[in-house]
Amino acid sequence: MTSDYLLEVDDVRTEFATSRGLVRAVDGVSLTLRPGETLGIVGESGSGKSVLGRTIMGLITNGPSTTVSGTVRLAGQDVHAISASQRRKLWGPKVAMVFQDPMTSLNPVKKVGVHITEALRLHLGVGKAEARERAVDLLKKVGIPEPARRMNQYPHELSGGMRQRVVIAMALSCDPELLIADEPTTALDVTVQKQILDLLASLSTTLNMATILISHDLGAVEGRTDRVQVMYAGRVVETARTQTVFNAPSHPYAEALLASIPRLNDPPHTILRAIDGTPPDMANPPSGCRFAPRCVYAADNCRTDPPVLADLGTALEPHRVACHYPLPAPGVTPPDLDPAGLVKEKN
Ligand SMILES: Nc1ncnc2c1ncn2[C@@H]1O[C@H](COP(=O)(O)OP(=O)(O)O)[C@@H](O)[C@H]1O
Ligand code: SF4
Ligand SMILES: [Mg+2]
Repeated sequence: MTSDYLLEVDDVRTEFATSRGLVRAVDGVSLTLRPGETLGIVGESGSGKSVLGRTIMGLITNGPSTTVSGTVRLAGQDVHAISASQRRKLWGPKVAMVFQDPMTSLNPVKKVGVHITEALRLHLGVGKAEARERAVDLLKKVGIPEPARRMNQYPHELSGGMRQRVVIAMALSCDPELLIADEPTTALDVTVQKQILDLLASLSTTLNMATILISHDLGAVEGRTDRVQVMYAGRVVETARTQTVFNAPSHPYAEALLASIPRLNDPPHTILRAIDGTPPDMANPPSGCRFAPRCVYAADNCRTDPPVLADLGTALEPHRVACHYPLPAPGVTPPDLDPAGLVKEKN
């Protein structure tokens, strides 16, 4: 049976046995992505975003202290059931990943041109001259001025933003069907961050390339992704069209993340509403809703019963939320709140 999906992630769990106990970094995550679709994965540091990205890539697999369960199907192949050599063949033409710090992907003693031509020659088997021509084209595509001259420079001769553009060019070299960008701008200056995020968004559109943009910042995915998946403590708490979450978040955590985004029209010195408290210890998370200790709407049952992802949307427009008391959409009467901001128990 063939599927419309390029990527199908079904109930994936990635667990690490550590001296502190079992860390359930990704705890039952499912998602699908069609060719050309873009998805933002957003959540605070430690919520399992990178582990999920690396599990999808097949960079994290079963090992002595690591257990991966559930399935990841990429372009019809079960990433965790195939051999390591079959998996490596997916890297490049099917899926490529861009990481936070460009220097982790670049070899300081190799020139920019060599990084890209090596990938082209290895995966596509093209000759030296053609590889060079294609490499210059790729550098142009990612907005590097004077690409032919840049080919002969070393990574340390480039700015952080230019280095990340080189890494993106390397990722694009084999025309991947899916690009996973994991906090691709966190190591860069604020002014350069927007340029790189905009570049990734325009490349997804012009190349019709499915993209997963991972960020701790909900603002980074706004206007740049079709859908967003908000993660908290290894689980998905809300997933919907990106604009839906921006206009009317249903999960209290998504609402809190939204309130913590700096806005261009904020008056100077506006104090952003950071989310009180800290994310749970993943070796020992709370037993009910994992967000309950920090949630202003938490009721007694939140502390004992873990909420499941329920669909509040339609067949055409799914909108899943894991909360006992999802926030009402604008225009809907809010739940009965007591003066402390707690949702009253229903009798
Ligand atoms: N190799 C590992 N061994 C043990 N714990 C890990 C490992 N990698 C990640 N973790 C833990 O898994 C959780 C999720 O990490 P990560 O996916 O990196 O978070 P994020 O990318 O959302 O900041 C964290 O609690 C982290 O400490
Ligand atoms: S289930 Fe309860 S504690 Fe968890 S987010 Fe919803 S209201 Fe808050
Ligand atoms: Mg991360």
